[in-house]
Amino acid sequence: MKSKMIFPVISMIFLFVFASMISVVAQEHHYVGVKKCGMCHKKAKDGEQLKIWEGSKHSKAYETLKTAEADKIAMEKYGKKAVETDECLKCHVTGHGADAALFEKSFKIENGVQCESCHGPGKDYKSKKVMKDQAKAIEKGLILYSDEAAIEKLCRTCHNEKSPSFKEFNFKEMWAKIKHNIPEKK
Ligand code: HEC
Ligand code: HEC
Ligand code: HEC
Ligand code: HEC
Repeated sequence: MKSKMIFPVISMIFLFVFASMISVVAQEHHYVGVKKCGMCHKKAKDGEQLKIWEGSKHSKAYETLKTAEADKIAMEKYGKKAVETDECLKCHVTGHGADAALFEKSFKIENGVQCESCHGPGKDYKSKKVMKDQAKAIEKGLILYSDEAAIEKLCRTCHNEKSPSFKEFNFKEMWAKIKHNIPEKK
């Protein structure tokens, strides 16, 4: 009797493991890099998100790691150059730690903290058809934030005391510096 029960039980377990594996794979969206997003998000009438980002320090976050100041911090703490140190890269670039296969050719690490650091890897949601349909875009990996508390929580994943240069994080002031709304249509 007992051995007859084992087969269905085992196949159930297999089914579960398999199903969860498939859903994990489906969530692995690819990174395309800021240039791709910028193609559609640059006009002043649409809020020129590209320009605002280019003018922010997020666009220079990788460059910062190439400075003598950064190397000094990294050498003292980890005995490596800053650009070779995981503990620096995780906040200064986009998607650090993700599988190399998830980065499209258009993705450039040199662009630092890019759109996809905050909005999620965009290969599957970046088509015009999907982008115009918010629900669809979210389904394809776009990350949006419901309110200021959620936005602040995002910021504090990098703006915190684990940053060697951290002093404080004034959310309202900092958000005002990089905010990039789509202007209200009249
Ligand atoms: C082919 C053009 C195109 C590309 C490429 C594109 N977008 Fe969009 N995006 C749009 C359009 C169109 C909208 C809708 C704008 C509107 O509702 O007024 C939009 C909306 C958005 C929104 C707001 C969604 C909402 O409902 O509030 C975000 C965030 C966004 N895009 C981020 C990105 C990011 C990040 C990338 C790169 C990975 C990207 N987009 C690439 C065209 C594009
Ligand atoms: C937890 C996220 C985080 C980690 C880890 C991190 N940084 Fe940063 N880094 C930031 C943020 C955010 C800033 C902006 C200033 C601030 O609030 O600290 C910054 C700013 C800097 C600056 C500019 C300092 C200034 O005064 O403008 C340098 C240089 C720097 N980081 C180097 C490094 C090096 C080197 C490492 C690795 C040893 C590292 N960071 C690890 C998040 C991080
Ligand atoms: C540091 C994080 C961060 C980066 C980098 C970033 N965004 Fe955003 N973005 C946000 C947050 C937070 C919001 C506001 C809440 C929301 O709509 O989800 C937002 C809103 C938007 C919106 C919708 C604005 C509206 O009025 O509905 C668009 C479009 C957008 N971002 C595009 C981009 C593009 C394109 C880039 C890169 C050039 C980019 N973002 C870079 C965090 C970021
Ligand atoms: C993926 C990590 C990451 C996230 C998420 C992030 N930041 Fe940053 N931010 C950085 C790093 C790294 C720097 C420092 C770049 C440099 O100086 O090279 C920085 C710098 C800044 C600066 C410039 C600081 C100055 O002194 O002028 C502002 C403003 C800022 N971030 C605002 C925000 C806001 C607001 C959010 C949330 C919506 C946010 N950041 C989310 C990593 C991040």
